Formats: sequence, structure tokens, C-alpha cells
Amino acid sequence: MANWENASYSEIIETLLKKHHAYLKRELPEIERLGFTIFKVHFFDSGEVLERVHKLFGCLKTTLESHIIKEERALFHMIRDYEKEPSEELLISLLEEIKRAERDNLESINILKELREVTNSYELPPSSCQTYETTYRKLGELESELYAHIDLEQNILFERLRNEK
Ligand SMILES: [Fe+2]
Repeated sequence: MANWENASYSEIIETLLKKHHAYLKRELPEIERLGFTIFKVHFFDSGEVLERVHKLFGCLKTTLESHIIKEERALFHMIRDYEKEPSEELLISLLEEIKRAERDNLESINILKELREVTNSYELPPSSCQTYETTYRKLGELESELYAHIDLEQNILFERLRNEK
């Protein structure tokens, strides 16, 4: 949906779930598997970079998994409840939950920046192979997908809820 201004809270949440969260649930285990493979195969030629990628990706995956759980188990339910029956009390606890979500999003953005830095913007070494290329391509896709996801949450959904106050 291009025009978010007229979208309801539940419509925005639907897109976050079906598009952005579904993407993460599908791709994170796959990228983890690929990253682990190239770390092993390219240990002697790119081990130093790939060890850092492995650790950073591990942190990112954990952060995103908690992000998904917090939103899907709590925050999104609170927003839907608020949409059905708005109350000051619910809005206050919801905005607290939003602050936590924003801290997690910031953490993810920082890890993405570090990943870009240690890989020299996903530059492939001369010794790279097909799996190496796929891993870096998927990490690049994860980065842009995550920026779109975070943008929709922070600048559209959370921003609008903050303005309810
Ligand atoms: Fe999310």
C-alpha cells in the first residue's frame, strides 16, 4: 500500500506481519546457514572478516527475533485493542512499549552499519564463491528490507500513535 495516510492501524500491522515479519522468519535462518557455511569454507582466506560477520549477524538475528516476539505477542495486540476502544490508559502503556521497540530498532540499525563496515559494503574477495556471493547479496537485501520495515513502524505507525496524545 502506497498511501499510508488513509490506512488504518490494523492495515499497517497486517503489512508489517505479512510482508516484513514473514520475510525475516523466512530469511534469517537461511542467511545464518549460508554465513556459517562460508565461514567454514573460507576460513583460511577470509576467516577474519567472516568471523565478525558471523558474530554480528548472530546479534542481529537475536535482536530481530525478540523484536518479532515483542510486537507480535504484545505491542500489535495493544494497538489493535486501542483502535477498537481508545483509552488514555492504554495509550500510555502502548507508548511505553513503543519506546522499547524503538530501542531495539536502533540496535538493529547499528548492527547493520557495522556489518556494512566490516564487509567494506559487501565487497566480495577474489576467492569468493557462489555461496559467498549469495550470502552477501542476501545480507544486502536484508539491510534494505529492514530499513523499509523500520521506516513503516517508526515514521508511520509509531509516529501516528505518538500524535494521538
Ligand atoms: Fe516489526
